[in-house]
Amino acid sequence: MSILVTGGAGYIGSHCVDVLIEKGYDVVVVDNLQTGHEESLPETVTFYQGDIRDKRFLTQVFEFEKIEGVIHFAANSLVGESVEEPLMYFDNNVYGTQVLADVMREQDVKAIVFSSSAATYGEPKEVPILETAETNPTSPYGETKLMMEKILKWCDNAYGTKFVALRYFNVAGAKLDGTIGEDHNPESHLIPIILQTALGQRDSLKIFGDDYPTPDGTCIRDYVHVLDLAEAHVLAIDYLLKGGESNIFNLGSSVGFSVQAMLEEARKVTGKAIESEVVPRRAGDPSTLVASSEKAKCILGWSPRYTEVDTILSSAWKWHSSHPEGY
Ligand code: UFG
Repeated sequence: MSILVTGGAGYIGSHCVDVLIEKGYDVVVVDNLQTGHEESLPETVTFYQGDIRDKRFLTQVFEFEKIEGVIHFAANSLVGESVEEPLMYFDNNVYGTQVLADVMREQDVKAIVFSSSAATYGEPKEVPILETAETNPTSPYGETKLMMEKILKWCDNAYGTKFVALRYFNVAGAKLDGTIGEDHNPESHLIPIILQTALGQRDSLKIFGDDYPTPDGTCIRDYVHVLDLAEAHVLAIDYLLKGGESNIFNLGSSVGFSVQAMLEEARKVTGKAIESEVVPRRAGDPSTLVASSEKAKCILGWSPRYTEVDTILSSAWKWHSSHPEGY
């Protein structure tokens, strides 16, 4: 029996595939390679290039392979882009999940782990954020992730398909040997941008606002290592395959770092000056996002290993400095 990973050639998907293979699972990947990279996949993986919205294609994958459970990453994930192109997000993220859920129902596959997002919360009323906090997305991206969770909730209600939604905070870092890592085009995330500046690919880091109500005025985020995140997916699929009930978990490191603090850490890790300049706030950025991940620790037995920001930064630096142009 195999685990199907949709979007397995993407940044987080490829790290999850790597951990699954390391733990001895048979893995089947579906990815349309819109943003994913086939080079990120190990040779032992069965790879189908195609789109989850193509029901005939997806049905064939389920018919050829013996799929026991699904880990679902395939989605568009840029907050800013989603504001510009909401319909593209509803189509790929929401409709894609609907087709996947439908094929799972037809093929009698009852377990799905799904990559949700802290963006489902919107501007939090309290930090650290608990899973019981109000969900009030401030972008179409966050809205699609919430809608995807709800599709799965009602599928559980009607067909008994069990799901785990993992609400990620700021995912960063790379496999420790630097062979796979983050390669987005365009890049919008803080850590890759800092490291591209360290490599001389950008003139300076633009700090989006230093007038937030935080100690140094820059936004605070909760950075979680991509390998710890990948591990949580494996724990979650095991939990479901052993009969666990549908559930929602935050995944973060529970520690907040400001943009300024990240920049200073990156200067230490890379030994580079890394120029920066303060520019106006980016629309829609909440000032502070820090997760409570106690529930994942307690119920899934998740125990993140790479919680130090210098491990996150140094693994990302290893990847970026050895793959300056990406894959
Ligand atoms: N930032 C800068 N300069 C940059 C890039 C980012 O100052 O060039 C700042 C942002 O303003 C923010 C912080 O760095 O304060 C982190 O920004 P990212 O773009 O790296 O990440 P976000 O917190 O905006 O988004 C992340 C995930 C999203 C998810 C969201 C949940 O990348 O997928 O958390 O709120 F939706």
